Amino acid sequence: MTEFRLTQISDTHLARRLKTLTANFHRIGEHIDATRPDLVINSGDLAFDAPTQRDDLEFAKSLHDALPVPCRHLPGNHDIGDNPTATGPVPSHPTTESNLQMFRAMIGEDRWRFDAAGWCFIGLNSLVMNTGLDSEAEQFEWLASELARVNGKPVALFLHKPLFLNVPDDPELAASAIRYVPPPPRRRLIDMLATVDLRLVASGHVHQRRDFTFRHTRHVWAPSAGFVISDARQEVIGIKQTGLVEYRFAPDAFEVRHVRAKGQADIDLDSLLK
Ligand SMILES: [Fe+2]
Ligand SMILES: [Fe+2]
Repeated sequence: MTEFRLTQISDTHLARRLKTLTANFHRIGEHIDATRPDLVINSGDLAFDAPTQRDDLEFAKSLHDALPVPCRHLPGNHDIGDNPTATGPVPSHPTTESNLQMFRAMIGEDRWRFDAAGWCFIGLNSLVMNTGLDSEAEQFEWLASELARVNGKPVALFLHKPLFLNVPDDPELAASAIRYVPPPPRRRLIDMLATVDLRLVASGHVHQRRDFTFRHTRHVWAPSAGFVISDARQEVIGIKQTGLVEYRFAPDAFEVRHVRAKGQADIDLDSLLK
């Protein structure tokens, strides 16, 4: 395969009771049906809030299973719980091994690696980082063994939370600590990835579309497929719009397209909480 077409969706936040988010998912499904990428990746928050409503994840699974192309998934904080941080509020639902087991049993592996079009693709569970759970150490061990056999290929990394706002040494601030990979595992991850040719870090979580390059790595923040968060609740960093991201990978090159599915609505979080 000389070209690999990948569509990233993120933060679908599905729940049986939230019909407007289901409608947005169907618009995305129609777009995927029309464009037929080789793979769809959902970079997390498949469910509206699985730690409190397990059925949200079951409902999300049923809709993803109906997509007409192969899919891979990564967990988000609304699928398995959130990271502990050094500053800011303690998460109301921290990541637990039992939530992680539920995700693996229902959705599939929470980390993965595959190769296509001369590239190495790695998906990581960012919510297990900084937890001290056995799964965190196991993932770092697994990552080290995968990175040792990249064999010079360019690497594309997918994970739910962005690594940082602007630079790797950005401090953890109370107001935004939940937005990024916490600094201790972030530093470890960046040091490990320095041994390979990292070209892309693709994330979700912030519900804002953003695309910037730091050194020679492009950082793409996928927007939410489902809803946006008002300026009163969340500062503006990128573009607040629902949508998806399309990639074309060829040996030693890739393209990124920021698109919206036809009919996709900019639903505001506040309308879902009423
Ligand atoms: Fe989200
Ligand atoms: Fe999230």
